Amino acid sequence: MLAINLKDKVALVTGVSSGIGAGVVKVLTKAGCSIAGCSRTEENDKTITSLKDDLEAVGQQFFYRRVDVTKEEQLTKFVQETGEKFGKIDIVISNAGVNVFRGAAQCTNDDWMYNHELNLAAHWRLAKAAKPWLEKSENGVIVIMTSNHAFSSIKGCFPYNVTKTALTGLVRSLAIEWGPAIRVVGLAPGFIETPGNDKWFESFPDAEAERQRTIKLHPAGKLGTPEEVGAWCAFLSSSLAAFATGTTYLLDGGRSAILQDD
Ligand SMILES: NC(=O)c1ccc[n+]([C@@H]2O[C@H](COP(=O)([O-])OP(=O)(O)OC[C@H]3O[C@@H](n4cnc5c(N)ncnc54)[C@H](OP(=O)(O)O)[C@@H]3O)[C@@H](O)[C@H]2O)c1
Repeated sequence: MLAINLKDKVALVTGVSSGIGAGVVKVLTKAGCSIAGCSRTEENDKTITSLKDDLEAVGQQFFYRRVDVTKEEQLTKFVQETGEKFGKIDIVISNAGVNVFRGAAQCTNDDWMYNHELNLAAHWRLAKAAKPWLEKSENGVIVIMTSNHAFSSIKGCFPYNVTKTALTGLVRSLAIEWGPAIRVVGLAPGFIETPGNDKWFESFPDAEAERQRTIKLHPAGKLGTPEEVGAWCAFLSSSLAAFATGTTYLLDGGRSAILQDD
């Protein structure tokens, strides 16, 4: 039977306190990893303690640190501490990020800089800090969480869409400069059921009506789940995906296949 086996691998995942990051940890736990996770949330938060309990229940370890990924010093310290704790890092899932939807005319310089630091620069800095550890792994992998906004966008989603598009260039550069020791792939989810995505629906007068309308626009007939994104991260991190590098995979329930809505 073909199975994704990441037994004894160490994965570092950012943004584990919510949504996709928490889903990634749940799936990587089932694939056999020990995991270092971070976010700005306190360690005693119930999502964090539940992820820790699940890992420890199956004999794998969880290491958590409060980290603001826009603060380079905190980020590099977290990478160093992870490497020292586990003796290695095999997989990096660079996931932390939030929607910064302002619109091109309304976007201030502060919005632009915040979005740039969080949704672009932090991914590059994390990759750079993890590089020496990943080079020592037999199968070093970086998965960078970009977005369907890297391929098409919606009015008002500037400047988020700009940095998510730029991440596809980051993926290409890192893959060609750091391969074959390290594979680097982008993963571009579409609408995924997360607290981050709920905020999008809540920006409409009737959030549930907008959610149902959006579901109908997806050939898959549903929105994605954090665990479905986690499953792609597990596959892309495994030796089954040894030929996957330098590109960004779109995971959008078929939404982008439609040229014009009915
Ligand atoms: N959901 C979707 O439909 C969707 C679609 C495409 C792409 N994405 C991408 O997927 C990633 C996760 O999104 P999500 O929907 O799961 O969002 P979410 O539910 O809002 O979770 C965001 C995660 O990022 C962390 N985070 C935010 N700012 C941070 C910072 N400065 N330092 C450290 N951690 C930080 C948050 O933790 P704290 O608040 O505790 O720090 C949280 O764990 C993002 O990169 C997003 O752009 C999501």
